[in-house]
Amino acid sequence: MPELLRVARAVATNQVARLAPGLYVRLTGQTGRGDSDQESPEDIAAYFSQCVADYLAFAGVPADQAPSYFAGKTVVEYGPGDFPGVALLMLAYGARKVYAVDRFRMVRLTEKNVGVWKALLASLHGEPRQRALALLNNPQVPADGFKREAIEYVVRPHGFSGLQQQADLVLSRAVLEHVDDLEGTFADMLAALKPGGLAMHQVDLKSHGLHRDNPLDFLAWPAWLWSLMYSQKGVPNRWRIDRYRQILHALPVQDRRLEPTLLASAADVAAVRNRLAAPFRELGDADLACLGLWVGFSKPQG
Ligand SMILES: C[S@@+](CC[C@H](N)C(=O)[O-])C[C@H]1O[C@@H](n2cnc3c(N)ncnc32)[C@H](O)[C@@H]1O
Repeated sequence: MPELLRVARAVATNQVARLAPGLYVRLTGQTGRGDSDQESPEDIAAYFSQCVADYLAFAGVPADQAPSYFAGKTVVEYGPGDFPGVALLMLAYGARKVYAVDRFRMVRLTEKNVGVWKALLASLHGEPRQRALALLNNPQVPADGFKREAIEYVVRPHGFSGLQQQADLVLSRAVLEHVDDLEGTFADMLAALKPGGLAMHQVDLKSHGLHRDNPLDFLAWPAWLWSLMYSQKGVPNRWRIDRYRQILHALPVQDRRLEPTLLASAADVAAVRNRLAAPFRELGDADLACLGLWVGFSKPQG
């Protein structure tokens, strides 16, 4: 019975999310980062700094070279969540422009997010700090937002940027597992990149709280029922690492990288194997175990 109730509730709320995505995001208090009530503005600012450090590490750039790496770059960030902290840091380091692209209108300059802005600012010194301050529409009132010529918030169906050969970098963190058209998002990245541009994405393949007794048992729901319950809510699309591999190899790109960051235990993989829904039954143990990964590629020159 509790299972039936869960299904009925999920199907009904999926329709609310389909008809009124803005209302759904507000009602569920989503920030994009899970339970952020527990985090202080300083914790959230530190998270954004860590994201930037992780992108630099993935690109093979020493942390102290952030300003020379980002200088003059145009960046597309998919799925910034409710505050574009990563975008603001990249702009502070000298990026020319960031397009923050989302499927849902999430960004809100609440009092707490103004606190995050202040904590980010406190972490910056010298030129990056001056550049960060210059991003504000009104230096006295951070809640008035940021200059659109520097950071442009784009909310579009499927979260596609629609850009053509404008970006040096496209990146995301904890977003690709939510997109509703994964192949389309990769095509959008490739179109948005300039020749020679780089894509880097950290993907979280965990259940996002939707498993029961095994971290992989959310893969037991049949695809049709999962879609009925969750397709409009931005919860995990459940694509596994094999899907990223297929998409990456079908694209005319180079320097393909697919690097697992977290693995389920062999015991959990074995225990869930007989319960899997059709799309996941064919997965090998190593692919099934993958609970997180980095995906990267570059767009060929010319
Ligand atoms: C878990 S949050 C991650 C937020 C932020 N990147 C972070 O690390 O805190 C997922 C984000 O992806 C966004 N999203 C969902 N579907 C998307 C899509 N199709 N394209 C772009 N963003 C999408 C959500 O609205 C949200 O902003």
